[in-house]
Amino acid sequence: PVVAKIAPSMLSSDFANLASEAERMIRFGADWLHMDIMDGHFVPNLTIGAPVIESLRKHTKAYLDCHLMVTNPLDYVEPFAKAGASGFTFHVEVSKDNWQELIHKIKTKGMRAGVALKPGTPIEEVYPLVEYEDPVEMVLVMTVEPGFGGQKFMAQTMDKVRALRKKYPSLDIEVDGGLGPSTIDMAATAGANCIVAGSSVFGAADPAQVISTLRKSVDG
Ligand code: DX5
Ligand code: ZN
Repeated sequence: PVVAKIAPSMLSSDFANLASEAERMIRFGADWLHMDIMDGHFVPNLTIGAPVIESLRKHTKAYLDCHLMVTNPLDYVEPFAKAGASGFTFHVEVSKDNWQELIHKIKTKGMRAGVALKPGTPIEEVYPLVEYEDPVEMVLVMTVEPGFGGQKFMAQTMDKVRALRKKYPSLDIEVDGGLGPSTIDMAATAGANCIVAGSSVFGAADPAQVISTLRKSVDG
């Protein structure tokens, strides 16, 4: 059965103190660290790239769950593998012509392959990638429009999580955007098991408590 992976989004951390922010999240019980890579083109915001992953990797052994909100994900596979990324999740909207090549390259370079979709993208678009002979290992269902932390959870995206979970009982299904103690039950009931949470964790007086609440909702 699928187990909870709680992934604080480092987008909400103090980037000037990334190593210590990462260290305290792991100490607070996080399973993964979610790294939001934005190119200022696929989304109207610009964040970090492979050099920052490389720097962070020198300070932590944690699983770095990289979410690439970029127009040309293929260009980033090699640099991210070299930098020490653990998971590489690309968007289906920009990989219509090369997702087979992307998956193959990601796995060959030793990373886990994931595919993400925006709230407006139909779930059917990722089915071929999950059913392919060399499939993605995770589907990230965006629960806000990608680009910024701190947005409101879009409950209507839960239909997609439900449909995925019904079809693929053991698939890792990640949700990202607006997750926290007040929305986690909707996502967990729908079938999500990998939970990204930025502002709800970093904005909490007791982040460890929030991480534990998220985990309990998924694992029961
Ligand atoms: C949005 C990013 C998210 C974001 C989540 O484009 O993909 O990972 O940081 O932040 P919260 O949990 O604050 O919505
Ligand atoms: Zn993300």
